[in-house]
Amino acid sequence: MKLLEIRQLEAYLEEKKILSDVNLEIFPAKIHCLMGPNGSGKSTLAQVLMGHPAYRQTKGKLLFMGHDLAGREADERARLGLFLAFQNPVSVPGVNVANLLRMAVRVKSNGQKKGKYNPALTLSSLNEEIFAVSRKLDMPREFLKRSLNEEFSGGEKKKLEMLQALVLAPKLAVFDEIDTGLDVDALKIVAEGINRLKKIGSGILLITHYQRITKYARPDYVHILSNGRIAASGGMELAEHVEKDGYRKWIGNS
Ligand SMILES: Nc1ncnc2c1ncn2[C@@H]1O[C@H](COP(=O)(O)OP(=O)(O)O)[C@@H](O)[C@H]1O
Ligand SMILES: [Mg+2]
Repeated sequence: MKLLEIRQLEAYLEEKKILSDVNLEIFPAKIHCLMGPNGSGKSTLAQVLMGHPAYRQTKGKLLFMGHDLAGREADERARLGLFLAFQNPVSVPGVNVANLLRMAVRVKSNGQKKGKYNPALTLSSLNEEIFAVSRKLDMPREFLKRSLNEEFSGGEKKKLEMLQALVLAPKLAVFDEIDTGLDVDALKIVAEGINRLKKIGSGILLITHYQRITKYARPDYVHILSNGRIAASGGMELAEHVEKDGYRKWIGNS
């Protein structure tokens, strides 16, 4: 079963065509690694998937569990089960991490139950879940009480992204460079989070520059984005090739 099917996707940011012909299939309970040179459009692909209003899908189709995503706003996509880790979470004065998570889970369960709260989702069971996940991520409890407009370090932001993903348990989780700037302990913890998402059945699109994270979260598929299209799809051997020879092989022969 396909979770997401991207067919002949063309996308613009303002007047600039960034994606010209992206074809990609994502499966549930699989880790898909997306690699590519700087500026190849990896973040653009993530933003288009989530329905960021600045990006225009001008051709092609995005089919998510059979739903055509065209014309659907970001919040609707999130309710369908798409999750994109935000590199810079919005500042909401007075809202702390735990509050944000509780709101997000409520919104999600509302979407699924068509306006009714999920009665199984009591506040205390949700709190327990949040604490259990934050312990696994080696986050101090105080972290959850911190306001979102406070400064978080780079590594803390990445763990925060993973905390959100694990609590929300999306159908598809997209991580844009979640491994960048992490020390090796944090990298292992984040990779464990990815493996846990896979175990509960989420599809994962892991956008990364480095092979490093693939040692701890082994991708089932590796895709190379270059010149606005998928230039190659395969397994770990592609990530190993990138580590040795860079992207030369795929640059310029569009
Ligand atoms: N705000 C912006 N304004 C103009 N061009 C942008 C902007 N953001 C990204 N781009 C351009 O879009 C292209 C793709 O960028 P991006 O999707 O961020 O690539 P990647 O994530 O693969 O490094 C690049 O050429 C980049 O310079
Ligand atoms: Mg990027």
